Amino acid sequence: MNLLLINGPNLNLLGKREPEIYGYQTLNEIEKKLQKLADARGVALTCFQSNSEAEIIECIHRSMNNIDGIMINAGALTHTSIGLRDALIGVDIPFVELHLSNIYSRERFRHKSFLSDCAIGLVCGFGISSYELAMQGISDYLSADAR
Ligand code: DQA
Repeated sequence: MNLLLINGPNLNLLGKREPEIYGYQTLNEIEKKLQKLADARGVALTCFQSNSEAEIIECIHRSMNNIDGIMINAGALTHTSIGLRDALIGVDIPFVELHLSNIYSRERFRHKSFLSDCAIGLVCGFGISSYELAMQGISDYLSADAR
């Protein structure tokens, strides 16, 4: 099973950026933790981060035919990008939307997600555990699919 983790704009600043909301762990630390979880589950994990919407869309396009599932923390693009939504639908790869914070307990503009209704699941509000839960969810979903 090949999984792709995508992190969007400003998530490269994790650890320094608003730590009271997003915590003190860096993206590198989160990716390493997830890599360990992937190894334990016998899953191949690729990690990608970009601050550019176009690069993220291109990464999604490249995933066609070689990625089974996507975990995405699209950051602010979650609330704005129809292009990102269309790319995820276009490649027809199951994906989980995830967020460190609970977007529904924050500002109203974060309550709108262009991704949730096409995702197989949504995890938010659990800090870095959101990443682990998303991986657990999508790998269980894909294994059940294979049965
Ligand atoms: C975020 C929530 C978004 O609203 C915000 O723009 C982010 C991070 C989260 O992980 O909680 O950049 O996706």
